[in-house]
Amino acid sequence: MYISTIGENLIELNETDSTNSYASRLLYDGLPVEGTVIMARYQTIGRGQRGSAWESEPGKNLLVSYILYPSFILPARFFVLNQAISLGVYDCIRAFTSKQVAIKWPNDILVEDKKIAGLLLENAIRENRFVSCIAGIGINLNQQKFNQHNPPATSIINLESASVAPESVLEQLNKSIDKWYMLLKAGSFKKIQTEYQKVLYRKNIVSKFERGKIRFDGTIKGVNEMGQLIIADANDHELLFNYKEVRYIF
Ligand code: BTN
Repeated sequence: MYISTIGENLIELNETDSTNSYASRLLYDGLPVEGTVIMARYQTIGRGQRGSAWESEPGKNLLVSYILYPSFILPARFFVLNQAISLGVYDCIRAFTSKQVAIKWPNDILVEDKKIAGLLLENAIRENRFVSCIAGIGINLNQQKFNQHNPPATSIINLESASVAPESVLEQLNKSIDKWYMLLKAGSFKKIQTEYQKVLYRKNIVSKFERGKIRFDGTIKGVNEMGQLIIADANDHELLFNYKEVRYIF
């Protein structure tokens, strides 16, 4: 019988630099049980993707990092891990809003063209095997005002006009991450990839993109197994993009 460990070992902090950095120190000191989750009310150096900062007022939002050991997949398939965690966050957010939720490639969670959650996955790989993955997740819950971002930020309170307890969102997130991580462990890559494509932001809709300094119109067709975004240009030629090679223009 399978016994879930996702979220079972909870480390609650009032303040830390970054829950991802805290998790990384735990991994340096030993081997915390798989699924250990670190939750903080406030981060002094909250980290986002592309070296950006993650903004969050004290006690308002969910700031967590999960420690995982996905040694059962090859690092070349890293994107399916990314997809499984993204789907877990996607499902969790759907439990708290009636509005349409989408995953913006590679792993931002958007509602009404605004970002409600972000993921920062930090993988350690040795001898072509995953040693560990720190899955850092920030979900905006009760914060109403945000600095200017691209795309702009939103939160559950801004969408639903009601506050929500971070603890109840964590409970839901543990369950949702567990579901998708178990499918990953079971080797259900096809299901994960199919579900990810179904909820992909602006799929099959003509959108504006930027590659370097060049702007172009294109249509997202999907994401391949390597995690590359497939965009059809105006002549219906399919172009492949790695992370950071292309940007949406909002
Ligand atoms: C992004 O830029 O979209 C990724 C944001 C990830 C933020 C979370 S909050 C909890 C964890 N700790 C961090 O320092 N970052 C992640």
